[in-house]
Amino acid sequence: MAYRTIKGTHDILPEEIHRWQQLENVVHSIAGHYGYNEIRTPVFEDTGLFSKSVGKDTDIVSKEMYSWEDRSGGHLTLRPELTAPVVRSFIQHNLGVRSPLQKLYYIGPLFRRERPQKGRQRQFHQFGVEVFGSEHPEQDVEVIALAHHIFKELGIKDISLKLNSIGSGDCRRNYRSALIKFLTPFKDDLSETSQKRLETNPLRILDTKIPHEKEIIQNAPSISDSWTDEDKSHFESVQSLLSGLNIPYELDEHLVRGLNYYTRTTFEFVSEDLGAQDAVCGGGRYDNLVEMLGGRPTPATGFAAGMERILLSMVTSEQTDGRESIYLINLGKAVTMKALQMAQELRSNGITVYMDTKRRSLKAQLREANRLGTKKAVILGEEELKNNRVQVKDLLKGEQEEIAMDQLAKYFIV
Ligand code: HAM
Repeated sequence: MAYRTIKGTHDILPEEIHRWQQLENVVHSIAGHYGYNEIRTPVFEDTGLFSKSVGKDTDIVSKEMYSWEDRSGGHLTLRPELTAPVVRSFIQHNLGVRSPLQKLYYIGPLFRRERPQKGRQRQFHQFGVEVFGSEHPEQDVEVIALAHHIFKELGIKDISLKLNSIGSGDCRRNYRSALIKFLTPFKDDLSETSQKRLETNPLRILDTKIPHEKEIIQNAPSISDSWTDEDKSHFESVQSLLSGLNIPYELDEHLVRGLNYYTRTTFEFVSEDLGAQDAVCGGGRYDNLVEMLGGRPTPATGFAAGMERILLSMVTSEQTDGRESIYLINLGKAVTMKALQMAQELRSNGITVYMDTKRRSLKAQLREANRLGTKKAVILGEEELKNNRVQVKDLLKGEQEEIAMDQLAKYFIV
């Protein structure tokens, strides 16, 4: 075959789509219950939007973006995440003026050129939320509760919440210096990647999976030493509000996240079932980003969850099959028009109708009806057409009855 999907991308086929729709429906419904409105932004943006917000020194910007120069000379990038585009949109359309507390959610594809593996793709999907306008801990907690609610509704088990605060303002900068000071004597023991990160983004070393590096960082200074009093009380409130909602969490001082815009609360939901790529959802507060991208200073918080990873750990309810639908068996060219009209009428009454358009035999159409799992078949042949009647066959019981054509819709609408 000449063309196939590009490495790290996947078709979502009809047999999988039910699970995707189930997940999407839960997101729409629960986000709606929390008073969030959906936002959809373009899949590509100015490259600068991501280098400025996510950070030039991050893996995402330095090695994973799909970027190109447009014919008009602009630098464009397929979005690797959605926080920066939503912030851009928030500023561009003055959404903060329209509503002092702007609560948004999204569902869509993202692009990162990572090494593909289980739960990691080059085109993947996230749903997420971003809230603008409140600096208070209850907003962080509402956002976390929303994610938790969705996972619960989806029946995802063995998921845990990791929580940290990376402080505000100077805290991250001070901590960075303290970390560099601590790690420099160990420089030669660090992997090549971590040696590079020591210069570019030392906080990322805390995320290491390498055992001897984990040992080294065990004794590293703690970010909590760099918190201001306000950072501390903000984080304490986040914790007590979470406890008040019975949302369990574990504190993880090393949870710094791979994007540079965070301030104060950071969190991740991880699933035990997923192996190496165990983060199902990541988020946190980013109080400086709106201003950094040219808007008025606006506190903000949010999260994004990887939909492929969720689907890997989601217990799906039985696919709703065709049991409540009808198969319209139509036999011969002479009945085609009537069959189409009948199907149309039933569908307009909210009934799912499968109809053969391959002009197959009665036997073949019956076989197809059974394969689809339909409970009832309506049979229309030339004889039936002549008499203005159809046969209705109960495919489970095998019983058959004849009814008048003009009674058909009434017959099926209960
Ligand atoms: P992130 O941690 O980069 O955060 O991504 C969030 C989630 O997207 C991850 O936890 C993971 O489930 C999923 N994900 C990331 N990369 C891949 C991939 N290559 N294949 C499959 N799934 C993936 C963000 O994107 C932030 N914008 C989250 C945020 C929103 N923070 C505040 N608001």
